[in-house]
Amino acid sequence: MVDQIKTLDDYKKAYKNSIENPEDFWEKQADSFKWYKKWENVLDWNFEEPNIKWFEGGKLNITENCLDRHLETRGEKTALLWVSNEPDGEDKTFTYQELYQEVNKFANGLKSKGIKKGDRVVFYMPMVPELMIGMLACARIGAIHSIVFAGFSSQALADRVKDAQAKMIICSDYNKRGAKNIQVKSVVDNAIKMDCNSVETVVVHKNTGGDIEWNDKLDVFLTDLTDGVEEYCKPEVMDAEDPLFILYTSGSTGKPKGVVHTTGGYMIYTAYTFKNVFQYQEDDIYWCTADIGWITGHSYITYGPLLEGATTMMFEGIPTYPDAGRFWEIVEKYKVNQFYTAPTAIRALMAKGDKFVEKYDLSSLKVLGSVGEPINEEAWMWYFEKVGKRAIPIVDTWWQTETGGIMISPLPLITDMRPTFASYPLPGIQTILVDTEGNLIEDNNVEGLLCIKHPWPGILRTTWGDHNRCRQTYFSAFPELYFTGDAARRDEDGRYRIIGRVDDVLNVSGHRIGTAEVENAINETFGVVESAVVGYPHSIKGQGIYAFVITKGQINDEVEFKRLIESTVRTEIGPIAKPDIIQIVSGLPKTRSGKIMRRILRKIASGDMSNVGDISTLLNPEIVEEIKKKAPTM
Ligand code: WT7
Repeated sequence: MVDQIKTLDDYKKAYKNSIENPEDFWEKQADSFKWYKKWENVLDWNFEEPNIKWFEGGKLNITENCLDRHLETRGEKTALLWVSNEPDGEDKTFTYQELYQEVNKFANGLKSKGIKKGDRVVFYMPMVPELMIGMLACARIGAIHSIVFAGFSSQALADRVKDAQAKMIICSDYNKRGAKNIQVKSVVDNAIKMDCNSVETVVVHKNTGGDIEWNDKLDVFLTDLTDGVEEYCKPEVMDAEDPLFILYTSGSTGKPKGVVHTTGGYMIYTAYTFKNVFQYQEDDIYWCTADIGWITGHSYITYGPLLEGATTMMFEGIPTYPDAGRFWEIVEKYKVNQFYTAPTAIRALMAKGDKFVEKYDLSSLKVLGSVGEPINEEAWMWYFEKVGKRAIPIVDTWWQTETGGIMISPLPLITDMRPTFASYPLPGIQTILVDTEGNLIEDNNVEGLLCIKHPWPGILRTTWGDHNRCRQTYFSAFPELYFTGDAARRDEDGRYRIIGRVDDVLNVSGHRIGTAEVENAINETFGVVESAVVGYPHSIKGQGIYAFVITKGQINDEVEFKRLIESTVRTEIGPIAKPDIIQIVSGLPKTRSGKIMRRILRKIASGDMSNVGDISTLLNPEIVEEIKKKAPTM
């Protein structure tokens, strides 16, 4: 098992050590896992190409480390505790032994359909145990999983399937979310029609048993895949640098890109950060409320916890069903020790009043976590006071899809906390701030662009099918640095507070959405000439989506037209990208070279009308007044 920091002194020593001798530091953690063959080289890297290789030549299988390795000592321990959408539904538990058996069978089922090492398998599934079992089954045979959040549209799913050239899609029939029963298989059917020619099989998990259409050429039920297969599947021998998964994420330009994580480094990094940030102890019940469709679920529902032999909980439902007490009811029922959620959920529950949280016994809690977006002071205080009763540390964890694991976070009861500060970098993480020219800012009490100057084992290796895009996006802004896209403040003691994205990426309810993607979707609407999308402060979502739209001629029915735009965005991306505000304008503020001045639009969208700054260099300064006048008052 990886090291666990216990005291402030441990942290200081580990940090110092990890900076002075990163290779020794990580090699020691790597040694605690089961390898079939030892690596030849701990680290080989440059950030120019980039080329980053950790533990190359080392041979392993991550599922051997998540499952087989625990059988002797933890075989009867609960590995997965699955909580149903229905409060009176039947929750399920899987011991390590049982999860191991299910994964082995699923893996043999995949093999029976011709899936082999290196093939891509897309999952489009709700939060059911089969999703976790399936992703591990892929890892067992060396297939690369790519999980697509089940709220994305057919179009968004098809884009990802085609980019990954996936051979198989695994889905459910329907998805239960709160009081809703959402179609899943039909979304896949539609995606398939959008030229997903690489797909040979669609595997359907019967979740609700509702009606679905059937395509004899492609479709097969999961039970038909796994019934009667052999109980044991020998783990595929993987190189530390073989891809483990692809996860698509939005950037400031173009279609989402497939972030690629490899096997060995990701394994070590998720295990190490899980054990330390949550201070997991052997009999703890750990619950992360994220969806496995996002990186948080990959690293901190599945891999990190299982690698450390933890009991990890997975919740099918939503925080407000049947009422806003659901999270707390579950915490009480299962005596949850570590609870990890997003600020947007905290704000949504806070808005429903304290009575829901006061009703339950939350005394089992030891650590509260936050992730995905900056947590505002009010939400932090509510979490601390109402959930933690002022007695439990909050870990505000900053990281990204690309970082694989948590990068900056307090260590509970070890390092101090300051509300709204993600605080100190974890061992191995060399955070720095630079100005817009790339000059290093050495002082404290400053703001700057957050960069990392040395690789850590969980860093992305490439973007699928387009290495140049990886270099461009993360390694070209400043030479020899990984640029996060975030701005941050560093206080007098060296704690970091994340301010937010400095690129055209929005963070809506903790979901990352590119403004260009939303604009492209809006522009598909009949009657739209051009659009510009910006974020604005939103009390629950963190950021809301504000769209300025130029139309072809006069629109007769504005309400209907806006509805049309919303439905196009739903079709192109999914409901999470639906604009909160649409303003029809006759023009957009542009520079003489034709670039949209988003800075001005952001000011207007946030209601900061008197402060739009210098507009004299615009091609069409008069438009600013018009847009301001017609902006809806909030
Ligand atoms: C972006 C990454 C990492 C899992 C979920 C999001 C923002 C993330 C925090 C935090 C302030 C945060 C950043 C980052 N972010 N965590 N604790 N405080 N901002 O992953 O979708 O890849 O988004 O989320 O802006 O760049 P993601």
